Amino acid sequence: MKKSNKPLVSLLIGLALAVSVPVMVQADDLTDKCDHCHGKNGNSEDDKVPSIAGFSSAVIEDAMAAYKDEERPADKYKPKDGEETDMIAIAKKLSDDDVKKAAAHYAQQKFIPHKQSFDAALAKKGAKVHKKRCEKCHSDNGSNAEDDAAILAGQWKGYLKRQFDLIVSGERDVPKKMRKKIKKLKDGDVEALIEFYASQQ
Ligand code: HEC
Ligand code: HEC
Repeated sequence: MKKSNKPLVSLLIGLALAVSVPVMVQADDLTDKCDHCHGKNGNSEDDKVPSIAGFSSAVIEDAMAAYKDEERPADKYKPKDGEETDMIAIAKKLSDDDVKKAAAHYAQQKFIPHKQSFDAALAKKGAKVHKKRCEKCHSDNGSNAEDDAAILAGQWKGYLKRQFDLIVSGERDVPKKMRKKIKKLKDGDVEALIEFYASQQ
């Protein structure tokens, strides 16, 4: 009995490999490319590149659509072992199906808040501003992915600073209701908010 099963088992394994390998390589290839810049499983190691691990798939899909339509500006970036490019060029090359696959992949990863230095006094001030103006949509101090509004808590300071510059200047579009709250911010509030998000580690 045992002997006669062997060829069958190896045939089945052979078939399974033949069927599953090409499919898996495709999915990995796609997100491997993203990981070059966004870090292993989307947890970035560079202050200029956002972590996208644990973001809801809706946020990732929306961001990719905004880049593709050039509604959102994108900075050029060169990973250590790769070519310089930007998110607009990347998004234009992807099919809707690729975007969905990548978004589903990163939504399943765990966001790891970054250990970074922060100013405790400013962070305290930022907590108050956040609670008053931002918590409604960025709940749990900006850590709740289910809000479909990105994860701010523990995101890199350098990335946040750059995005705040783009948002405040109007170069990056944001929801109307968020724009209203941003307009209400006073001098120094943005700096305090950034320290607050960075303080959550
Ligand atoms: C060459 C480096 C590079 C590669 C490759 C890359 N990204 Fe990015 N990505 C960035 C940088 C830098 C930013 C942030 C600055 C900007 O908007 O230009 C960003 C921003 C994003 C954002 C917005 C995050 C947020 O918080 O709003 C998403 C989503 C994203 N990338 C997804 C992807 C996916 C999915 C892939 C793979 C298909 C990918 N990226 C590949 C560099 C890269
Ligand atoms: C009405 C809901 C709403 C309010 C209020 C709101 N936001 Fe947002 N915010 C969003 C949504 C939705 C997104 C993601 C979609 C987008 O980028 O347009 C976002 C994106 C962001 C981003 C970009 C994150 C990234 O990863 O690139 C930052 C930074 C941000 N919000 C900060 C704030 C701050 C600070 C406040 C308070 C002053 C605030 N938001 C108030 C809904 C809101």
